[in-house]
Amino acid sequence: MMEEKTKIDVATVIKDMNRRATETPAFEAVLDANVKSHHANIYRNHQSLWAIKKNMPLTKNDVVVEFGCGTGRLIFQLNNYCKQIIGLDISDKMIDAANKLAKEKKTSNVQFIHSAEKIPLADNSVDKIYVCWVFSLMPDMAIHQALKEFERILKPNGGAYIFDHTSNSGKETGNLQVHRKPEHLQEVLASSNLKIAKNKKVIRHPSRGMSIWTKINNSNFTFILPLLQMLDDQLVLRKPEFIDYYTEFFELKKLS
Ligand SMILES: C[S@@+](CC[C@H](N)C(=O)[O-])C[C@H]1O[C@@H](n2cnc3c(N)ncnc32)[C@H](O)[C@@H]1O
Repeated sequence: MMEEKTKIDVATVIKDMNRRATETPAFEAVLDANVKSHHANIYRNHQSLWAIKKNMPLTKNDVVVEFGCGTGRLIFQLNNYCKQIIGLDISDKMIDAANKLAKEKKTSNVQFIHSAEKIPLADNSVDKIYVCWVFSLMPDMAIHQALKEFERILKPNGGAYIFDHTSNSGKETGNLQVHRKPEHLQEVLASSNLKIAKNKKVIRHPSRGMSIWTKINNSNFTFILPLLQMLDDQLVLRKPEFIDYYTEFFELKKLS
């Protein structure tokens, strides 16, 4: 039996996420929910998609789930690369915002479902599940339960792709968020029957690319984003003493 090592309070997380979804434009609500952060959020969005596409190859036949989809920021940028994509979130207001966007965009292969512990999808029905910056808002035990559900809904040989904050010192922000130590996150992920197939650090915070982007301060200069990202890829492991936290990636496999 795993011992809970965080102080995260799920009710507090839901309240905060509902507030963000209603008070902030959908794109910012899931990134830095300070409207003044729009320019920085463009780079954050580029980094997220870059990391996901590089580490989770999608095919046109894939049925995909995003666990903790927020307002659908990533789903609306990935839905053209797969057959069907389903977003799940514990915040009903995030799901409302995502459904509103889906209606505006007239997407046909996208579905959003408000869900808590039990995932309302059939056994062995999903090829890939991805989770981006969500486990840092969940207690250890809730992650353990979610992984059991992942194992149930994934097809044999299906994969779960986890992107989450870690920090070498471990850091909790009240009862809302935790940057687990890498070994703590690994321990929680290893508590399931899914096998850890890959693990690496993919984004460093702060990053050189972000600091250049911030200095440019012109949101029309998006052509430079791939170059900044390539620079960041080269520097991800450099000077760990200056790193506040990482985005760490894990691929988990359901064995057949
Ligand atoms: C920082 S946002 C990231 C949203 C999205 N993954 C993205 O990167 O654009 C975290 C999301 O996780 C959701 N979340 C937190 N705890 C959850 C849980 N136990 N189950 C499902 N979703 C959860 C929040 O409501 C929020 O929408």
